[in-house]
Amino acid sequence: MAGAKQHAHWSSRWAFIMAAVGSAVGLGNIWKFPYEANAGGGGAFVLVYLAFVFLIGTPLLVAELSLGRRGQLSPIRSMEKIAKEEGRTNWWSLVGWSGVIGSFIVISFYSVVGGWTLSYVVEAFSGGMTGITKEGAEAHFNSLVTNPVTPLVWHAAFMAITVGIVLRGVEGGLEKAVTILMPALFVLLVGLVIYSGVTGEFTAAVNFLFAPDWSKMNADVALNALGQSFFSLSLALGSIMVYGSYLTKDVNIGKAAITIAGADSAVAILAGLAIFPIVFAFDLSVGKEEGLVFMTLPIAFGQMTGGAVIGTFFFGLLTVAAITSSISLLEPSVSYLEETDKLSRKKAAFIIGIAAFLLGSLSSLGFGVLSDVTIFGKSIIGFKSYITNNLMMPLAGMFMALFIGWFISRKSIMDELAMNESWFRIWYFMIKYICPFAILVVFYNIVFGF
Ligand code: PHE
Repeated sequence: MAGAKQHAHWSSRWAFIMAAVGSAVGLGNIWKFPYEANAGGGGAFVLVYLAFVFLIGTPLLVAELSLGRRGQLSPIRSMEKIAKEEGRTNWWSLVGWSGVIGSFIVISFYSVVGGWTLSYVVEAFSGGMTGITKEGAEAHFNSLVTNPVTPLVWHAAFMAITVGIVLRGVEGGLEKAVTILMPALFVLLVGLVIYSGVTGEFTAAVNFLFAPDWSKMNADVALNALGQSFFSLSLALGSIMVYGSYLTKDVNIGKAAITIAGADSAVAILAGLAIFPIVFAFDLSVGKEEGLVFMTLPIAFGQMTGGAVIGTFFFGLLTVAAITSSISLLEPSVSYLEETDKLSRKKAAFIIGIAAFLLGSLSSLGFGVLSDVTIFGKSIIGFKSYITNNLMMPLAGMFMALFIGWFISRKSIMDELAMNESWFRIWYFMIKYICPFAILVVFYNIVFGF
């Protein structure tokens, strides 16, 4: 079979955990989570989101990692191979296809936002944020994203860095970067929460984020929370499956999944606690969507002593977090092309990188010259995000759960996971019944209303 080429493996369990946390923690936590929470009305969204992370997302993380480790190939071929071994139809490989296509769509717009982040490193460093007002911060963001050329240059730079790392193989330099820089981002975020807490409207922010107003909950908000939980955990796009394929047997997948979900949620909540005190202090809340983080944090950096240095570090570390996610988004398609034996890893990374850059350029221009273009009433980036987060990811996740729960022998998955018996029972129950059912309920409500 094509794909007989052996993948490399992580050099240690720690390296794997860091890479997986690196994939999960990214713009999804610091850029997307706050504006989704804002659009979802705050507390009710956050609580439903956290419930999805732990009740659906974490069991699915275990599922996806174990499929990858068992398959030892790219997502498409791993699914094909396992289905064959279990005597099931080849159609199951569609779960892998959905991941490869979905991750390609996501990287195309992720890199645009990664580019904005990169540009904010330079902006902070050059002192451009010093003393900036609410109006100034809004004007800066708007002039950046509506410009037809500048954001494309940053988008190209971000994609080039991603490709540069991927073509060397994900197990290389990534390891060191992640082990030092991810904890640094965490510490800086805690510092920012304290700063925002002291200078901003902390109580209002805590109330907003944690006191649920259930009248704001409806089927669309629930689907957004579900999509956001998948996006933030890097689920069902093949990234986690590829990372699982580089795993050796001695790693405890259950513990790994809990670590990833815990770290990921902690960063999202910290980001919320850093941003919303400023949002309320400056009355920034309405209709800011994709610009929320980029319009709030510069105000804080602009006011604090040493803000230029701290801001440079913050956006620098955020860029690193985004890159450790974007490489995991490029990896599913690159590993697939590489397996065909016709293309080297280098060529595959270049081809995918250029194609994703071109597709992403449309999302970027969607903020400026193409801002009149809407697809089903959404902007280009909004549309891409909706079909991946809210449709492809939950559906692929549901089929992954069904595959493991109903179409693979219980014994083979038990052997693969080698978990303690009672944990296995709980997990198996979640995967077999709760995950598919819960995802179905959310979809049912979207189609038929509450
Ligand atoms: N989880 C990443 C983030 O929050 C994004 C991502 C999604 C990465 C899916 C890989 C796969 O930024």
